[in-house]
Amino acid sequence: MRTVTTVPELKAVRGAGGAGTVGFVPTMGALHEGHLSLIRAARASTDVVVASIFVNPLQFGPDEDFDAYPRNEEEDLELSRREGVDIVFLPGVDEIYPEGDSTTISAGELGMVLEGEDRPGHFDGVCTVVGKLFNIVDPDVAFFGQKDAQQVAVVKRMVRDLRFDIEIGVGPTVREDDGLALSSRNRYLTEDERRRATALYEALRLGAELIDRQDLEATEKNMWDLMSERGLLPSYARVVDPDTFVPASPDGSKLLVVAAKLGRTRLIDNLLIEE
Ligand code: PAJ
Repeated sequence: MRTVTTVPELKAVRGAGGAGTVGFVPTMGALHEGHLSLIRAARASTDVVVASIFVNPLQFGPDEDFDAYPRNEEEDLELSRREGVDIVFLPGVDEIYPEGDSTTISAGELGMVLEGEDRPGHFDGVCTVVGKLFNIVDPDVAFFGQKDAQQVAVVKRMVRDLRFDIEIGVGPTVREDDGLALSSRNRYLTEDERRRATALYEALRLGAELIDRQDLEATEKNMWDLMSERGLLPSYARVVDPDTFVPASPDGSKLLVVAAKLGRTRLIDNLLIEE
């Protein structure tokens, strides 16, 4: 495994990889089984696997946890090595945003609803860094987790709109035994919050059970109430179209999405119901 920190080094090492296909897994580090499942998917379907570890300041709001975000470089490198990653790209902030850097990518309307409404500018920050990383790494396939369903929709739209010649692979959400979706932010939870955090997935399961029996608004209210009764502070509980994030139509695929705060930690989850 090669670990590189600069763009020229990355390009040199990637170029030396020969004619095989390149799979890319962008991450912010603090790697867990969710990230590792994407690395395994890349390993299984492409010849050269590149993972990036970069906590992207541009996608954090001023009151968010950029400074506190868990950083665990040594363990991340060990896990990457164990999973057979070929190249880890570990740039500093100045490598991605050198002085004078000012061009950004806007996620447009899709980046302004739900997560985007609660976290203004978040998806513009995601698009900007993912767009830069795509140009730097030049992968054939890039892998993203269904856990961040709106990120998947935003990235797929960006790839289509800006004509990136990159296939997007989507991996299923990896969960704890009790249903809680793995997230780097779970480590912020107190013991009591951790117990109650299963309410997000329970709300989604309840929604999936009720959706065929009642209208969307009633289902959304049931999901909201379940989280709130468990002492969570819901941000949203919605049933949307998985590609556009507008309210789902009764006969198409439906994505149930929830976000809620437990104390100071904000968690998200979703469940896709395909037609
Ligand atoms: P990060 O939160 O580190 O996640 C990296 C990738 O792992 C994302 O595609 C995310 O959806 C996926 N992932 C996280 N938890 C998962 C789980 N429980 N199951 C399956 N996949 C999971 O998402 C980001 O970083 C950033 O926004 C990034 C794309 C790297 C741009 O900065």
